[in-house]
Amino acid sequence: MKALDNLRETMRRDKVFDFVAEGHYPLSSFRHTVTTGEIDVSHGTILYVENVNVSFDGFKALNDLNLYIQDGELRCIIGPNGAGKTTMMDVITGKTRPDTGRVYLGQSIDLTRMNETEVAEAGVGRKFQKPTVFPEHTVFQNLELAMKTEKSAWSSLLASLSAEQLDRIDEVMLQIGLKEQYAMSAKLLSHGQKQWLEIGMLLMHDPRVLLVDEPVAGMTHQEMDRTAELLTQLAGKHSVVVVEHDMDFVRSIAKTVTVLHEGSVLAEGSMDDVQNDDRVREVYLGS
Ligand SMILES: Nc1ncnc2c1ncn2[C@@H]1O[C@H](COP(=O)(O)OP(=O)(O)OP(=O)(O)O)[C@@H](O)[C@H]1O
Ligand SMILES: [Mg+2]
Repeated sequence: MKALDNLRETMRRDKVFDFVAEGHYPLSSFRHTVTTGEIDVSHGTILYVENVNVSFDGFKALNDLNLYIQDGELRCIIGPNGAGKTTMMDVITGKTRPDTGRVYLGQSIDLTRMNETEVAEAGVGRKFQKPTVFPEHTVFQNLELAMKTEKSAWSSLLASLSAEQLDRIDEVMLQIGLKEQYAMSAKLLSHGQKQWLEIGMLLMHDPRVLLVDEPVAGMTHQEMDRTAELLTQLAGKHSVVVVEHDMDFVRSIAKTVTVLHEGSVLAEGSMDDVQNDDRVREVYLGS
């Protein structure tokens, strides 16, 4: 019983409940996501954002936005401050309801009918800008916690993990480059390592779509290179949508770039295409 008390105390100290209360990790989103077969990607497209409009007090944050993400692709979204990039992620993840328009996961899952937890369960993982790992817990425990189910959040933290679960944690630690740090408290990790750990926590749910908002802000060049590698490796198995302002980083990973401006798509294509687009240069890239 003492162990359970200690654990409760640690979780309290780590503000587990604050994170939950803030909606970053709704406890129910610790449940496993749907299996691959449930998302119908028979047309090759995993995410449809069609004719989406969002107004805040008359201000159009999204203005007839259309975006299509192919299954397994790595897409970069760029655009000036206030272009609607984060609002777009809010709409996809059920945080903001569009005034009009369709948001579908595959052919048949209407994300606009779901709340944030349901969207996460349907297979859409979202990484917020600020790392939200549990600082007093180790790398291993953070990944373990991310895997827990709602019902077992308390009890099974003390129970031993199955071989399969251990393998999965091991695999993710390797993927995010934190295997050697498995026993290190998250608070001792570098900023970049914390970001990778949070990506790892999302990976525990095996999301089909991963939305990542400004992943390299505040990172060293070395950390940026490692993040580029990680996101590139994740594409294929996952569809990865990255919002980022750092153009060197975008260039290093991008195949297709979408430029958002005033809530709509201004241009879309290869990095060279969009960089040579006069309208894009005017509103965003300068010169
Ligand atoms: N909840 C809200 N209430 C009112 N206005 C909002 C709200 N959320 C966003 N906005 C406004 O909508 C516009 C789009 O904001 P958004 O955060 O989506 O831009 P962004 O492209 O992510 O910008 P940045 O590059 O600065 O992160 C901004 O003008 C913003 O002030
Ligand atoms: Mg933003």
